[in-house]
Amino acid sequence: MEREASISGAQRFARIKSVHISGVSYATIGEAGREWLSGIASKIRFKVTATTNPAGMDLISWRDMGIPEGFARGQIEIVDSLIEMGALPTFTCTPYLSGNLPAYGESVCWGESSAVAFINSVIGARSNREGATKTIVAAATGYTPLYGKHLDENRVPDLAVYPESLENLLHYYLLAYHIGLHYPDSVPIYNVKRASLAELKALAAAGAASGSIEMYHIPGITPNKLSDAAKSIQVTKRDLLSLREELSSFDGGTDLVVLGCPHLSLQEIKGLSDLMNGRKAIVKFWIFTARAFMPLIERLKWKIERFGARIWYDTCMVVSPLEELGIKRVTTNSAKAAKYLSSLRGLEVELLDIKEIIERYSAPE
Ligand code: F3S
Repeated sequence: MEREASISGAQRFARIKSVHISGVSYATIGEAGREWLSGIASKIRFKVTATTNPAGMDLISWRDMGIPEGFARGQIEIVDSLIEMGALPTFTCTPYLSGNLPAYGESVCWGESSAVAFINSVIGARSNREGATKTIVAAATGYTPLYGKHLDENRVPDLAVYPESLENLLHYYLLAYHIGLHYPDSVPIYNVKRASLAELKALAAAGAASGSIEMYHIPGITPNKLSDAAKSIQVTKRDLLSLREELSSFDGGTDLVVLGCPHLSLQEIKGLSDLMNGRKAIVKFWIFTARAFMPLIERLKWKIERFGARIWYDTCMVVSPLEELGIKRVTTNSAKAAKYLSSLRGLEVELLDIKEIIERYSAPE
């Protein structure tokens, strides 16, 4: 840990109460990661709350997903190793909705770029976007080096963003993706009038996917100290629509709709179930959320199942091996998923807003 601190330029360490571990999927870390984790599992014990990012499959219903036996064996070994060290089996990228919620001003050591940007921006906690190895070391020692977004001077806004109009959730994804592409290391102020939980998640996920944006501000909504930014820019509706074109490689005729990047909140699941009510899917629909929500949505998931969609837990569309399941063309509403489904999974992607997806790929009952 001391060597790590000198590499990152940290002068001191903070005692932490939580880590969030990314790099959990067998599709992402492969044999090398599986072997490393199984080698250290009996030697390390976590001292602090350690939640886990999505795995490569639904850990209970993986056979229904079509996951090959060999992949499942590797994934289960990774999960067992993490749990042996003391990790909590959350397997979600929204741990702040599943029991790991740091306080304002608290320093933590988290992986998962979307969650880091969310807690820095929306909660006012402090973390850099850390790699899996460092989060494991931090969990075992209970300390993290203080540098980057732990320090006040790196949390100051430097770019004021004025969007022309934001009409739906997809526009929030595209706005942050646009800023991440053109100002990858910025701390933007998004001058928007409102932001729901889904919209705050979208801003966090997309800016960290196209760039390295680890935090943003929204006047009157996010809690961190605001000051004037040196530069200001406008983002037009045309900018957002042309970005959507760039991220889409087909228009109609999908194999699979995937929703839940980042994992859907309870509010989003409820909203989706209302949109789906009275309609039937005409293609395969997959929805991803945290297993912690499973009992809570028990009484409303019939609407989703009657529509013909399937809810998966513990995993997501990007870290599960969709290409091995015979899928070639996917439709999503998340700009982050669009990027990684294409670059990591090698799939054709169509990017649409949720309402457009429901309209295009379902029919009245
Ligand atoms: Fe989460 Fe997977 Fe997207 S980990 S942020 S749903 S790529």
